[in-house]
Amino acid sequence: MQDYREFLEEVLISEKDIQRRVVELGAEISKDYAGQDLILVCILRGGVMFLTDLMRHITVPHMLEFLAVSSYGVGARRSSGQSRITLDVNVDIHDRNVLLIEDIVDSGYTIKAVLELLSARQPRSLKVCALLDKADRREVEVPLDYSGFVIADKFVFGYGLDADEYYRNLPFIGVLSTKLYKPNA
Ligand code: IMP
Ligand code: MG
Repeated sequence: MQDYREFLEEVLISEKDIQRRVVELGAEISKDYAGQDLILVCILRGGVMFLTDLMRHITVPHMLEFLAVSSYGVGARRSSGQSRITLDVNVDIHDRNVLLIEDIVDSGYTIKAVLELLSARQPRSLKVCALLDKADRREVEVPLDYSGFVIADKFVFGYGLDADEYYRNLPFIGVLSTKLYKPNA
């Protein structure tokens, strides 16, 4: 695999800026759910790094669950509108407050599929917290209750987000140069 420095066009959001925003989001969530019961549902795998940082700043006692979605169809990097749940939560969410933790909302199809699945189980509340919002790319309307940063339509990686499953460990969000990136090199 290539060293990420070979195709990093720019650091879009620094580690420091991410951490500052995560603290703000944690405070906002803690305030909104004060005195209430909460289940964080992290969408695998991109949401993991955001989750583990964010939950340290959520002062409300909460449970943690994971959910995985795979999208298939045209292009490996873009959602096709066809999303399949490959891992479901392990608890009954009926009458519970559920907060979804996602790395990025692009077309919106992934979150829409998850919202449809979970809302059928009649949770008390169902909200979405996404670190990144590619607002211009939206194809279906989805409510974003908490969002870290609105970003332009560029392929980004790092801080949980992958380029062909690699580079999720980087502590910042970088823009991938499609000219310099060689998949499976
Ligand atoms: P959506 O269904 O189009 O909203 O796509 C959301 C999913 O696509 C995210 O959970 C990511 O896994 C992936 N995705 C969208 N844009 C990017 C990106 O720029 N970098 C890495 N993954 C992305
Ligand atoms: Mg994802």
